[in-house]
Amino acid sequence: MKTIRDIDVKDKIVLVRVDYNVPLKDGKVESDLRIRASLPTLNYLLENGAKRIVLISHLGRPEGKVDEKFTLSPVADALKKLLPGQIIKFCSLPKEGEEISVPENAKIVLLENLRFDPGEEGNSETFIKNIVDATQAELYVQDGFAVIHRAHASTDAVKKFLPVYVGLLLEKEVENLSAAIKNPEKPVLVIIGGSKIDDKKPLIDKFVKIADHIVIGGKIAADGYVSDNPKVYVAHDFDENTKGEKLDIGPLSTADIANYITDAKTIIWNGVLGYVEDSTYATASTIVAELIGEHQDAKTIICGGDTTGFVEKLSEDHPNLHYSLISTGGGAALEFLLGKTLPGLEAIKK
Ligand code: 3PG
Repeated sequence: MKTIRDIDVKDKIVLVRVDYNVPLKDGKVESDLRIRASLPTLNYLLENGAKRIVLISHLGRPEGKVDEKFTLSPVADALKKLLPGQIIKFCSLPKEGEEISVPENAKIVLLENLRFDPGEEGNSETFIKNIVDATQAELYVQDGFAVIHRAHASTDAVKKFLPVYVGLLLEKEVENLSAAIKNPEKPVLVIIGGSKIDDKKPLIDKFVKIADHIVIGGKIAADGYVSDNPKVYVAHDFDENTKGEKLDIGPLSTADIANYITDAKTIIWNGVLGYVEDSTYATASTIVAELIGEHQDAKTIICGGDTTGFVEKLSEDHPNLHYSLISTGGGAALEFLLGKTLPGLEAIKK
């Protein structure tokens, strides 16, 4: 796969697939992790003289219809704050045959939610070709790692119309996640929390073969998960509320996990360990996040929407915490770790 470093982008109009599928609250972006994660690619293109960057993304699942609830307009506002000094033009999706008009000084264009048109999820060549023509794009950069598991027009059909390159976020995600599954430095520790055992079971089954230790916490452990595999450690003490509900793992289990973290050279954490929405029950997750973030001798990967959100928030107040990767891919990261074929990745490999 060729990356944007392998091409001269000077004076080129570059179509960049990002994943700006971010949570919104009261018309504003609630977490800008995915937007910030795209900045290295955008800055690289700007610094290397790209004529214009045309950003394309989806948000939510509007099912092929225009629905203002899912407009990317709040994302354009968030992007303007992150790139002060840049003129960023937010545009509707072009109608058939229409050309998008952009002021000369606007280096960045963000198109409206691709999923406002059924052509996006339908992997329609006509739909994406219209966007390529309307924007006069000359190169395509795939940087939307979080959508790489979808075969949609902007992740798949687009390859028919433009030369394809990999963005810096996609490269970072793939490098770090690959390193965790192919010859990871040992000992490998996988910490799994969250609430749905059905979602986590494939991950446990996969990592039983790769990891030295698998720690199970969160609601899965509270619900009584058992394993007779000696590699699997299940949290065994809990903090309970007055109704006897087990809402966090307790200090004994947390101390055991701390020991595993200290020894590990590769750590993958997916799923919070308690009911972190209530800070009373975020103790174990906070301690684990801090220990991992302070562990500078290990490759550390945080994945899964709840866990990355939690770690991101904690990092805001603790800039000393550092992780090799806070993955932007929810389902995509999981599918990647499980070794599934990802259509968006196949499209850029060929
Ligand atoms: C995600 O948030 O996981 C990606 O943006 C993909 O979204 P989707 O599950 O709606 O395709």
